[in-house]
Amino acid sequence: MTVRDILSIGDPRLRQRARDVTTEELGTARVQGLIDDLIATMRHASGAGLAAPQVGEGLRIAVMEVEANERYPYKPRLPLTVAVNPTITVTPDSPTLMVNEGCLSVPLRGDVRRHMDIAVGYLDRHGHRIDRHVTGLTAGTWQHEVDHLDGILFTDRVEDPTTLCTWEEFETHHRRAFIERLRGAGLLGD
Ligand code: NI
Repeated sequence: MTVRDILSIGDPRLRQRARDVTTEELGTARVQGLIDDLIATMRHASGAGLAAPQVGEGLRIAVMEVEANERYPYKPRLPLTVAVNPTITVTPDSPTLMVNEGCLSVPLRGDVRRHMDIAVGYLDRHGHRIDRHVTGLTAGTWQHEVDHLDGILFTDRVEDPTTLCTWEEFETHHRRAFIERLRGAGLLGD
């Protein structure tokens, strides 16, 4: 396992559409090693998710995990998920929520409207097909990661650029209001 360098906004590789992984290549040492590297890199950076284009690999693979995460203390737990060739279908009448997002490739946070009720389909790292229903902030995480595979960064989806802020200023000025917004949407306990 290698902790890879994470590309930053402005690197053209973040803007390319990644290609599907074939079932044959999923079993190769190269792709399995890439998956291990993505997990190691995500954990090293304390991220909630990481997509292959963020380490310069144009394959449709994303990893996600939220344990007790200092960077996202308000996020629901998300067991380690390896999503190969993921697709998202928004549930009809899915509610949306303005989610304050960050990204390991972007030094800012900002508010992005995300669907809170989606169906996801993907292959796990062993090539098994999985179809699941995902709700709440975890649904937002899925949309963020699949966007990476399409060359889209969350900044592209920020409707109000005045919500952009550094992590430090988020903590100081905006974190409390965001947590209240989550509570108002029924996404937090008390
Ligand atoms: Ni990201």
